[in-house]
Amino acid sequence: FSAFLTDSFGRQHSYLRISLTERCNLRCQYCMPEEGVPLTPKADLLTTEEILTLARLFVKEGVNKIRLTGGEPLIRPDVVDIVAQLRRLEGLRTIGVTTNGINLARLLPQLQKAGLSAINISLDTLVPAKFEFIVRRKGFYKVMEGIHKAIELGYSPVKVNCVVMRGLNEDELLDFVALTEGLPLDVRFIEYMPFDGNKWNFKKMVSYKEMLDTIRQQWPELERLPEEESSTAKAFRIPGFQGQISFITSMSEHFCGTCNRLRITADGNLKVCLFGNSEVSLRDHLRAGASEQELLRIIGAAVGRKKRQHAELFSMFQDSPPANLSISPWDPFH
Ligand code: GTP
Ligand code: 5AD
Ligand code: SF4
Repeated sequence: FSAFLTDSFGRQHSYLRISLTERCNLRCQYCMPEEGVPLTPKADLLTTEEILTLARLFVKEGVNKIRLTGGEPLIRPDVVDIVAQLRRLEGLRTIGVTTNGINLARLLPQLQKAGLSAINISLDTLVPAKFEFIVRRKGFYKVMEGIHKAIELGYSPVKVNCVVMRGLNEDELLDFVALTEGLPLDVRFIEYMPFDGNKWNFKKMVSYKEMLDTIRQQWPELERLPEEESSTAKAFRIPGFQGQISFITSMSEHFCGTCNRLRITADGNLKVCLFGNSEVSLRDHLRAGASEQELLRIIGAAVGRKKRQHAELFSMFQDSPPANLSISPWDPFH
């Protein structure tokens, strides 16, 4: 495995998340303000070609999984083309997308043909009116259509990301679990992460342990599944159910020790940690004509600076939330 993608704690970074845009067609309360986010001028965003150049380089060094994220990746007009070109990269085993599902049913046939192999869809409620409240837009049925389309086209499991918030959707926990009885879904309950600006109180976080207790009361036979390597999710299954459920315990139990992820933002910055601020602009180096070797040296230096774990978030869980945690989820969570 490439020394450039290995950090000083021996973690090998084989999973690259590329943000295609900061824009989104929804306005989830926990993510974006009603007016949207300040947009990067188009000229500052990575072009299709720049994305491919970087992807090629990372794959050559050992990345075997690329996830396209946002904002909402499926609003970028060239997304199908990007997937089609990524597929040609030898050594790339998985091309995934994390989407809000609004454009999914419409685009999935083309995306699948282009080579898309894995789909994660965000859905926090099964109640249409609540959906509109949470995302501040219509579209519940479009998302459901997207989920069913993904199943119909053979994606398995289709992952559904559900951010659990106290007083808002925690009462739907069992309904989400019940969905996995007849559908090959992996419903992933995510511990809600509070941050400055999303106006949601820290107390809105429902912990993994608490969710597990609630679900076990209904289904005591719930069984733990073996961990996938470097997975951020703890997986469980109810015997006899087609699908499974998982928990992403970002708040209560971090997974920095096995982190294998790197991120490229829509404007071409390399981020070695979701919560770190240190970024290096690969775009600027590319545009200045840097050679492959120079780019690798820059990437290697950034990976080499990666910390063992990000302190802020986890100390935050011990005490009370900091007044201004400086993460903006429309880019980094995705
Ligand atoms: P798979 O590739 O299918 O395993 O999905 P994923 O979990 O890597 O990606 P997804 O985009 O579906 O992200 C789901 C959730 O995982 C996000 O909402 C975050 O809460 C969390 N997450 C993703 N990456 C990181 C990370 O690097 N650090 C932390 N702490 N949480 C992350
Ligand atoms: N806490 C937890 N998850 C979040 N996401 C966005 N904001 C937050 C937050 N504050 C989730 C989205 C999506 C995933 C990529 O990140 O719901 O499923
Ligand atoms: Fe859009 Fe995802 Fe943010 Fe919701 S969480 S506003 S779908 S980027």
